[in-house]
Amino acid sequence: MARGIDVGTMNIVSAKQEESETVFVSQRNSFVEIEYSDMAERMLSRSDVLHIRKDDSVYVVGDDALNFANIFNEETRRPMKHGILSSEEKSAIPMIKLIIEQVVGEPDRPNERVYFSTPADPIDSDLSTLYHQKTLESFLADMGYDPEPINEGMSVIYSELADHNFTGLGISFGAGMTNVCLSYYAVPVMTFSVARGGDWVDEQTATATGESVDKVTSIKEEDFRLDFTTDAGGVEGALSIYYDNLLDYVIENVVREVNEEDVEEGLDVPVVVTGGTASPPGFEKLFEERLEKADIPFSISDVRKANEPLYSVARGALVASRTEEGDSEASESEPEVEAED
Ligand SMILES: Nc1ncnc2c1ncn2[C@@H]1O[C@H](COP(=O)(O)OP(=O)(O)OP(=O)(O)O)[C@@H](O)[C@H]1O
Ligand SMILES: [Mg+2]
Repeated sequence: MARGIDVGTMNIVSAKQEESETVFVSQRNSFVEIEYSDMAERMLSRSDVLHIRKDDSVYVVGDDALNFANIFNEETRRPMKHGILSSEEKSAIPMIKLIIEQVVGEPDRPNERVYFSTPADPIDSDLSTLYHQKTLESFLADMGYDPEPINEGMSVIYSELADHNFTGLGISFGAGMTNVCLSYYAVPVMTFSVARGGDWVDEQTATATGESVDKVTSIKEEDFRLDFTTDAGGVEGALSIYYDNLLDYVIENVVREVNEEDVEEGLDVPVVVTGGTASPPGFEKLFEERLEKADIPFSISDVRKANEPLYSVARGALVASRTEEGDSEASESEPEVEAED
């Protein structure tokens, strides 16, 4: 057996193969601290809410955090920011550890292989991903796994481009970051991230409209679309503007990085977009239109969206784990491991 896990700024998702099915388990990467009281005790004891008690506080963790935050009039907090462990959150480590333990569960056998996603170092900030990566590695090892990091963009390629010899441009539009990987026969030729994603869109929209960030996020996730023109003004109008801006920003950085890396000309590759931020209807069409206008030195055969944008990074990590174990059903065609230069 083998597993994949996507440790994201907003969602932690694990993937595991059970016969012909891939089973995903996910939790929101968030928590809320509430004061310990009889009422809290009653609510918690009646349910299977994930929580821990520490002194006079109870921490409700994962998907239930938002409900409890609303009931107890508290703010949710997040262990990660911009794709990595947050340096501003003192409780980040114990909280994320609890979520990871719940999502991944016990290994089926000692030293079971698990690939976990980690972002590329962002090119637009001086954050480093090393501490984050090493910390996750040690949690998973303590749980009895044999962990190995996999770049988030490369995970997208494993998950979505098996039918294309693992060749193409994979982009994961997440909450804290956008991760980009150009792969040629399963060899990453360019990987980078930018420290902007859905959280940035929400924060900018909230500032522009005076709404709370939580309200903006829920409007965006519930019924926001990019496939028709939204009236100016209002939250949806502002969301459209910041979505546009995010896409242009990502494309600008793709062009810059491709030029710097001296990527071979004459390539003709597909582009796959995924991640929660790619969810709104019309996203891939808009991205394609913007790409057409950009000056990219290779050609793009098509732009597609992953079927399950919230699960594809975890699925890619699972494909990597299973491929390494020599499972021939891990993907339709085996990724090549050796680089040709
Ligand atoms: N239906 C939807 N429409 C628009 N945005 C959505 C939708 N569902 C989720 N999102 C947004 O997608 C983001 C979460 O996506 P995802 O789970 O891919 O990120 P992550 O992997 O946790 O973050 P990162 O990769 O940046 O660390 C959030 O900004 C969330 O608001
Ligand atoms: Mg992600």
